[in-house]
Amino acid sequence: MSLSIALTKGRLEKKTVAMLDQVGYGTQNLKDKGRALVFEDTIKPVRYFLVKSNDVITYVNHGVADIGVVGKDTLLERESGNYELLDLKIGKCKFCVASLPEKKVFNKVGHVKIGTKYPNVARKYFLDQGIDVEVIKIDGSVELAPILGLADGIVDIVETGTTLKENGLVILDEVCDISARVIVNKASFKLKREEVLQFVQDLESVVKSDADTNQ
Ligand code: PRP
Repeated sequence: MSLSIALTKGRLEKKTVAMLDQVGYGTQNLKDKGRALVFEDTIKPVRYFLVKSNDVITYVNHGVADIGVVGKDTLLERESGNYELLDLKIGKCKFCVASLPEKKVFNKVGHVKIGTKYPNVARKYFLDQGIDVEVIKIDGSVELAPILGLADGIVDIVETGTTLKENGLVILDEVCDISARVIVNKASFKLKREEVLQFVQDLESVVKSDADTNQ
């Protein structure tokens, strides 16, 4: 039985393909992709498609993809109802609260506004801190929000810290670590158990060997 796998395009794409390469998957079509969106593995009975992170969850939710590779950030924002079977330890970054150094977020008296692409993550974090905030959903370039006065602070992903630095923002708190995860549709896990487990084991062996090399 063949597997359908939804991969997140963009930042995670190259690293995911490199992992598949290491365990003998035929990723040539994914590398010479042009504008195509569906790719047959040239060695194994696997079909890949490249979509945005949120759509990875949607395709796996509906069982159109048996498996998905997606960032924990997207999974935390939107509970998926699928099995999360493996941490690929790639695409490592953090959710952080940040702002301009002079702005008050944690000790502000009165109404606190937070700009973010991740309203559920932001709401939960501030609720846990016992701070009542107004969350303003922004679709990108979140760092602009405190600069232009739309928000007192932001909750966003920090990878290298360059975007914050170049815009004069500082980290006020770290919310949690993020990395890419393998998720599996619950029905696929029953119906294609062997194939799914083989795929997860293959990638797990790369995660382990990379960890050994880095020791
Ligand atoms: C993400 C995130 C930050 C930046 C962090 O944005 O929202 O802006 O990357 O990376 P850094 O710490 O390495 O600088 P992305 O590039 O995905 O673009 P977007 O702002 O349009 O969402």
